[in-house]
Amino acid sequence: MAETKKLLRALAGEVQDVPPIWMMRQAGRYLPEYRATRAQAGDFLSLCYNPELAAEVTLQPIRRYGFDAAILFADILLVPQALGADLWFVTGEGPRLSTITQQSEFDALKPVADIHETLSPVYETVRILSRELPSETTLIGFAGAPWTVATYMIAGRGTPDQGPAHALREGNTALFEALLERITQATIEYLSAQIEAGAEVVKIFDSWAGSLKGEAFQKYAVEPCRVITQAIKERHPGIPVIGFPREAGDAYVGFAKATGVDCVALDNSVSPDWAAEHVQVDGCVQGNLASSHMVTGGQALVDETRRIVQAFSKGPHIFNLGHGITPDADPENVQLMIDTVRSWRDG
Ligand code: CP3
Repeated sequence: MAETKKLLRALAGEVQDVPPIWMMRQAGRYLPEYRATRAQAGDFLSLCYNPELAAEVTLQPIRRYGFDAAILFADILLVPQALGADLWFVTGEGPRLSTITQQSEFDALKPVADIHETLSPVYETVRILSRELPSETTLIGFAGAPWTVATYMIAGRGTPDQGPAHALREGNTALFEALLERITQATIEYLSAQIEAGAEVVKIFDSWAGSLKGEAFQKYAVEPCRVITQAIKERHPGIPVIGFPREAGDAYVGFAKATGVDCVALDNSVSPDWAAEHVQVDGCVQGNLASSHMVTGGQALVDETRRIVQAFSKGPHIFNLGHGITPDADPENVQLMIDTVRSWRDG
């Protein structure tokens, strides 16, 4: 039977007149219905671990906008928590974790086989979603890439330059690599369980890949993504993988070939014309509208949206933002973006 879901068709390499659309962080604080459900759950982590409510917030942007894909509502930092790290969120500041900078802290982590104890509510969210999503909507599962997850585990928080993680990488390479390996194996198990529960695509978020340069990018961004992608494809043939080595710049070139991912997600620091020529040659790309347009709207949003769709129109493309939508975005600008993409040939 021919594939009918637009997102899966793009991932299979099909060039479409109108690309499928979804948005990073589409379930989020810019939506009043999200804020209401989060308040009902109590806090962000309680929402992540409540399958009914996590499914509800995943469905909210699908009901409001009819996106072509829904992304599971969870967080990349649930994996460190499942490995035994303490995790909490400080309102207005972001995540905090217990740190891993010494062998004894690494030794206290749980084995990979134990992660499902913590993560099983997430799999239940996926099962609910695969029952409740409209038949045309693709369900995306996800995890953080090992490097990005490690940056939070090492520093115990988000850091502007990932300094503590780079310091460990250089100062105690063996410990750093052991941590990356633990996260890699946990990620394979986590993504496999999401697929078994009904995820149709998985995305690997390497939000801090851009701070790895040269050989370090190859070893700690490309290689873990290749290992995870290969394992997923061996266990679940036919499940597409999206890679997001954010801010990779020139290193976006060849990333799909080197890792085996079916699609490369692009941040908005690269021009769509450049990316069409150098990245989309290898297959599907996703992106890359600056999320600030969701705050500012207007003609600039329309012009930039059209420019991106046009630039990528000769190859497989999934329309998305270059990074997550921010809490100060106006929900009406999201609708304007969708209308612009869906009518771009008339414009
Ligand atoms: O809608 C979706 O995209 C799905 C759910 C999702 C969340 N986080 C929900 C979330 C996804 C895919 C993520 C990924 C994630 N989480 C990344 C990678 C992508 C990126 O943004 O670079 C990272 C680095 C994290 C870690 C994380 N989670 C941080 C640094 C923060 C705090 C910053 C912030 O935006 O508040 C979070 C919190 C978070 N994750 C929120 C949401 C909706 C906001 C929490 C809230 O409701 O208060």
